[in-house]
Amino acid sequence: MILTSPDPFRLDGKVAAITGAGSGIGAAIALLFGQRGASVAVLELDPVAGARVVQDLRGHGIDAEFVPCDVTQDAGVAGAFTKVKERFGHLDILVNNAGIGHVGTLASTHEADFDRLFAVNVKGVFLCSKHAMPHLIERQGVICNLASIASLIGIADRFAYSMTKGAVLTMTKSVALDYMPYGVRCNCICPARIHTPFVDGYLAKNYPGQEKEMYDKLAAYQPMGRMGTPMEVAEMALFLCCDASRFVTGQALPLDGGKLTG
Ligand SMILES: NC(=O)c1ccc[n+]([C@@H]2O[C@H](COP(=O)([O-])OP(=O)(O)OC[C@H]3O[C@@H](n4cnc5c(N)ncnc54)[C@H](O)[C@@H]3O)[C@@H](O)[C@H]2O)c1
Repeated sequence: MILTSPDPFRLDGKVAAITGAGSGIGAAIALLFGQRGASVAVLELDPVAGARVVQDLRGHGIDAEFVPCDVTQDAGVAGAFTKVKERFGHLDILVNNAGIGHVGTLASTHEADFDRLFAVNVKGVFLCSKHAMPHLIERQGVICNLASIASLIGIADRFAYSMTKGAVLTMTKSVALDYMPYGVRCNCICPARIHTPFVDGYLAKNYPGQEKEMYDKLAAYQPMGRMGTPMEVAEMALFLCCDASRFVTGQALPLDGGKLTG
């Protein structure tokens, strides 16, 4: 057996752009990728969160920069990737992580909710992938999208959110096929419930006074009896973005605490 590279799980010399890296899963991915040797561009809407994560990364000796970015704005996204290229010289990895949630059925979802969810969760992935792609082609790079278990099975009360994550899964397959000839891979992760500010925020908003009860219910949804952690998602993202997965593209990897086992 011959090792293909000294350590295929390292990212030395690579540059990763991570959207929504100011919080939760994105912040964990930024830290793990940086610890594995990558330089990290934190593309984030919230300037306070973005700056805080960059300060933390630099504290760990990681080369990092906050790049302000609203993933829903075409011109802004184009400008953000120009800044990444100017600051780091190239781009190897894009993680489309920025996303927002929504609780509602067909009847209780308003048009404005639908538009907002699609703007961030679908159009945002489209715009970032589009503007990153010329740079990724130069480096035979890779995209990792954050889909959801809702891309694979029905989840009660998540009508608009589930549709957007279904679109992320099909976008992943489409991009993987179209850019295979250019050496760019594209995969997505389908997490069940992960304990992040995203979860705490929507428990506080949608179940005020019942947060603990609802937290336990959401934890029990996974047969393993708990929520996943942001670092567990980051570890799967690392696999999908490093050379260890060089023969993997167009795939949707569940990270579900056993939910899809049957
Ligand atoms: N937490 C879960 O249970 C879970 C499960 C499955 C999938 N996901 C997906 O994982 C991703 C990250 O989730 P999280 O739980 O870490 O969320 P989070 O709310 O903790 O973090 C999301 C980040 O995205 C940023 N963001 C929001 N809108 C943006 C925009 N327009 N432009 C740029 N940045 C923007 C926010 O400021 C925030 O920093 C999302 O796509 C989410 O749908 C989460």
